[in-house]
Amino acid sequence: MKKLLVIGIGAGDPDYITLQAVKALNQVDVFFILDKGNSKDKLIHLRREICERYISGRDYRFVEAGSPERERGGEYDAAVKDLNLAKQQVFERLIGEELGEGECGAFLVWGDPSLYDSTLRILQAILRDGRLAFEYEVIPGISSIQALAARHKVPLNRIGRSIEITTGRRLAEGFPSNVDSVVVMLDAEDTYTRLDAPDLYIYWGAYVGTPDEILIAGKLKDVAADIARTRQQAREANGWIMDTYLLRRGDDEGV
Ligand SMILES: C[S@@+](CC[C@H](N)C(=O)[O-])C[C@H]1O[C@@H](n2cnc3c(N)ncnc32)[C@H](O)[C@@H]1O
Repeated sequence: MKKLLVIGIGAGDPDYITLQAVKALNQVDVFFILDKGNSKDKLIHLRREICERYISGRDYRFVEAGSPERERGGEYDAAVKDLNLAKQQVFERLIGEELGEGECGAFLVWGDPSLYDSTLRILQAILRDGRLAFEYEVIPGISSIQALAARHKVPLNRIGRSIEITTGRRLAEGFPSNVDSVVVMLDAEDTYTRLDAPDLYIYWGAYVGTPDEILIAGKLKDVAADIARTRQQAREANGWIMDTYLLRRGDDEGV
């Protein structure tokens, strides 16, 4: 039987790797690397660095494949569905042709595989379709949300309260009415600048856990413009940006 490991590698700092992930890395024969063919080379580099640093006394190989990109401009959910179908074809080819019987393959997932990542959904779809057989395990990683909270030294929730984890796209529909703490990911549009909520506090972080890390916190109305400017400059300097933020209502110290 072929075996696959979906290993969460943490969201930036190679020190985020867990002991369980190190043990898993040391079982792998083939690492599958999906290349988006853009300036996110640093993210691919980090995966290679992790292997060099944590694997000892064992041969392994990398197999790279071009990663399909989402069609821009059309309906979002449909485009994501198409993207995942295209990715499924790539995964099927990799697992079918590049992994031998009895071998162990791995996908190194940024942060944690449970959070805004399609790897698990795609593997489940492949098994459902029944053209390939394999077993797989999931190794959790430190997500960008945990890294953000740690770097700002804040809890994500207020005492006994809920948090919501959402996207910039959803936040654009308005700050949720039933929670006071909201974590926002995948926001390409500076949605925080369009919220009319004078009591909101923001904890923002870009490239958290990496040498390029930037952190800004404060009353949203006081720091929003600074974050937008900093974000724009960082994106121009690096060619890409990944940022996450926690918004907290009615509280200026985050506890
Ligand atoms: C496709 S999601 C993947 C999330 C990932 N699975 C995780 O556990 O963090 C990508 C989004 O995660 C956030 N992100 C990932 N790494 C980050 C980092 N080091 N610093 C800030 N935000 C990050 C950004 O919001 C980015 O748009």
